[in-house]
Amino acid sequence: MSGVPAAPAARFTIADLAARARQRVPIVMATAYDFVSGSAADAAGVDLVLVGDSAATVMLGLATTRDVSLDEMLMLARAVRRGVSRALVVGDLPFGTYEASDAQAVETAKRFAGIGCDLVKMEGAGSTADRARAVIAAGIPVMGHVGLRPQQLLAGEPARVPVRTADAALELIADARALESAGCVAIVLEAVPAAVAERLVARVRVPVIGIGAGGATAGQVLVTYDLLGLTEGHLPRFVKQYASLKREMIGAIERYAGDVRERRFPEPRHTYGMDAAELSELDRRLGAGG
Ligand code: KIV
Repeated sequence: MSGVPAAPAARFTIADLAARARQRVPIVMATAYDFVSGSAADAAGVDLVLVGDSAATVMLGLATTRDVSLDEMLMLARAVRRGVSRALVVGDLPFGTYEASDAQAVETAKRFAGIGCDLVKMEGAGSTADRARAVIAAGIPVMGHVGLRPQQLLAGEPARVPVRTADAALELIADARALESAGCVAIVLEAVPAAVAERLVARVRVPVIGIGAGGATAGQVLVTYDLLGLTEGHLPRFVKQYASLKREMIGAIERYAGDVRERRFPEPRHTYGMDAAELSELDRRLGAGG
């Protein structure tokens, strides 16, 4: 140890995204929904922190990602922003806040940029490519999202691999190209066969960040609560769990409850003392007062 504090890591930039893809250095993105998970992802050195609308189902307990409001997403994004100093922060535009018109998309994107998000993500191609172009023209970088689009799922509807035929694969590749032409700085590609992803990435220059799209993409993204083992129930096959924090949380809270019930907590080291003279003065006055 030299005693010299380490220089803060340089901020990751939009330009670094393309450079990483060119140099074939994998790009790492992880989701975060609050100050704690944002600062943890940043400390772990990820390149992009996505304030994903998966927060709706994963963290807020809502039925679908369509159920989270713009104000809720902005609140989460503000908290994440406070915790992140190196990575790029991506704000996920929630369902119903950008599809109607270019003006709506620009207004919503500006709300995210206004609280410090470096770029915004929106699902879909087609008219979404037009919305993306408008947002980019307003000076806010955009990340696209094609393949499985969770905002299309209704409550209870299972997520399925959306591309199983040559026709669907050609449409997907055309969608990715449309988003590239619109000026997107990256595209998320979710739950598509690896062989299709390979063919898609060979046909676009924009960095593609995969989730359930195999290893050919320029980067990977996972939902942090999934990789930490904080989510329960059926998980998509593309999730790799690196910890079992939900089990650890329950165990720790059970031990706390047991300690309280058995009077093992609090111990003297958890309690505040008081000057002895002040304490006897207190008792004298209490005694005097009856
Ligand atoms: O909301 C989210 O977490 C996402 C990722 C799955 C890419 O969109």
